[in-house]
Amino acid sequence: MANNFNSQYPSIEDLRAKAKKRIPDFAFEYLDGGCNEDVNLNINTSDIRKIQLEPRYLQNYKEADPTTKLFGKEYSAPFGISPVGLQGLMWPNSPEILAKAAFEHNIPFILSTVTTMSIERASELTQGNAWFQLYNPVEDEVRNDILKRAEAAECPVLVLLCDVPTFGYRPRDIRNGLALPPKMSAKNIFQVLGKPSWALNTLKHGVPTFETLKPYTPEGLNLKQLGKFMDKTFSGKLNAEKIKPIRDKWKGKLVLKGVSAPRDVEDAIKMGFDGVILSNHGGRQLDAAQSTISTLPNIANRYGDKIEIMMDSGLRSGPDIARTMAAGAKFTFMGRSFMYGTAALGNKGGDHTITMLRTQFKQVMDQLCCEKVEELPNHFILN
Ligand SMILES: Cc1cc2nc3c(=O)[nH]c(=O)nc-3n(C[C@H](O)[C@H](O)[C@H](O)COP(=O)(O)O)c2cc1C
Repeated sequence: MANNFNSQYPSIEDLRAKAKKRIPDFAFEYLDGGCNEDVNLNINTSDIRKIQLEPRYLQNYKEADPTTKLFGKEYSAPFGISPVGLQGLMWPNSPEILAKAAFEHNIPFILSTVTTMSIERASELTQGNAWFQLYNPVEDEVRNDILKRAEAAECPVLVLLCDVPTFGYRPRDIRNGLALPPKMSAKNIFQVLGKPSWALNTLKHGVPTFETLKPYTPEGLNLKQLGKFMDKTFSGKLNAEKIKPIRDKWKGKLVLKGVSAPRDVEDAIKMGFDGVILSNHGGRQLDAAQSTISTLPNIANRYGDKIEIMMDSGLRSGPDIARTMAAGAKFTFMGRSFMYGTAALGNKGGDHTITMLRTQFKQVMDQLCCEKVEELPNHFILN
């Protein structure tokens, strides 16, 4: 195993358990939770794990090669880092840690519009390889300015988010009165005092803010004000008319994130998107939604030759990545897994988590006797 691998944490579940101990409850619950009763959150993973793969032992087999091409670029493995908002709340410099690690390991890192690192800093850390996720601004001027900045930062892929027409109903965050900076209620102060390394690091790095949005945002918003500001500034309600100017202006690859219905994928093709990320926001928006994996094989079958089909929501291991690729995805992404890594291990968290997932994924390929990632669907068992 590589030097940067900490053998005390050989699984995402180990990192999650450590993260829970190391950061305040309000930050952990913001990261860990789904919406309403967490039904969608839980079926995302359990449905992926229903997929079984068939090994082919009696072949002239050499060795698995996890490298994967996407949008003309070769990555070291078929997984990347999903956009996550407010990352600095979970661990102070986590977007920097993850962007750097993604660049060093040659996997994609997607920067959220509402995280605590700017487009410009992400570009600097990844030498222009960071993707950018856009919440569609209501004002054309704000949208055009953000697009200009993403282009100047040489961002190769713009990811337009479509699954937040409204704020998710998240009981834990409601109870915690989540705010940025965290509101210092007696309960929250008590939680912070119990997590000294989080508190010291937060002091060292300063209060996390929405770096990309600094030119357009008032300071010190609590959850309620944040919701209002987001509603006023961004419109999650997308349609052809709102998407057209983005497609016309953006010269790089354009990806739609958050779709799960075949009809939406068909529209995305008509609107000129280059890819879709099948996603339900990790179960944080619609508790009654289906799991992403249950939509994947049909969508990949119908549209896989017209548009790049990627998927996130629920993956937590190398076998999960292999199952998803075998079910028809061209690429996968994960959100919480990497954040558990940085919350648990700080500066070493990105490196460790990527190394671990790549090691697990390659082991599955080797065990299946599958040399190339694009051959994984040959091992999919139809039930
Ligand atoms: C704490 C948290 C914040 C998120 N913030 C964003 C965001 O700002 N933009 C976005 O496109 N998706 C966001 N997502 C969704 C992720 O990009 C991704 O779709 C999801 O985490 C995938 O599910 P997984 O966590 O099970 O891997 C967020 C997810 C989490 C857990």
